[in-house]
Amino acid sequence: MSVVDALHNRNSHSKLIEPGPDRTQLEAIITAGLRAPDHGRLRPWQFIGVEKERRAALGKTFEQALLLTHPDASAAERDKARAAPLRAPLIVAGLVRPVEHPKVPRVEQVAAVACALFAMSLASESLGFGTMWRTGRYAQDASVIGDLGGRPGDEVVGFLYIGTRQGDTKPLPEVQIETYFNYY
Ligand SMILES: Cc1cc2nc3c(=O)[nH]c(=O)nc-3n(C[C@H](O)[C@H](O)[C@H](O)COP(=O)(O)O)c2cc1C
Repeated sequence: MSVVDALHNRNSHSKLIEPGPDRTQLEAIITAGLRAPDHGRLRPWQFIGVEKERRAALGKTFEQALLLTHPDASAAERDKARAAPLRAPLIVAGLVRPVEHPKVPRVEQVAAVACALFAMSLASESLGFGTMWRTGRYAQDASVIGDLGGRPGDEVVGFLYIGTRQGDTKPLPEVQIETYFNYY
């Protein structure tokens, strides 16, 4: 499939099961991300892979983060927090680690991380996997960022869930070029 066809047909998939990418495939996926456009080649990013039993460990961190802000969270809410990282065999957390630069504002550095995550998503799809970009409350939680190895100032741009698609794919929405694109 050409890159254009891949872009036209990409679709997120929320139900992701084993198998996830093997080591070689993961390296190809991460390499695709690390070739993302990046003003000044500042490399303002860190990517953390979470797989196997480490997903349960991250789930416990999510639960602890929930309890910090909602000490009276119900058992169902706690279960949901713990189970969240189990929704795919592999999660790649993409963090922006902003670099002070006179010509490259933070927004451009976040954009570079987003480009990298999107490239990882497309690379995953081209290897036959499904992906889903998620954020949610835990993406903004300092304790979660710290647990992932983030430093103060780092932020999660996305959790990219990667795995084998289960079930039917969603229909592709119609693209309305004229609504969002015009000539100057
Ligand atoms: C920065 C960012 C954060 C997102 N966070 C979530 C999220 O937390 N939960 C969710 O269901 N979808 C989230 N999405 C959207 C999905 O990944 C997906 O794009 C959306 O469901 C539309 O499906 P499609 O990609 O197949 O068109 C996020 C997308 C982006 C770019």
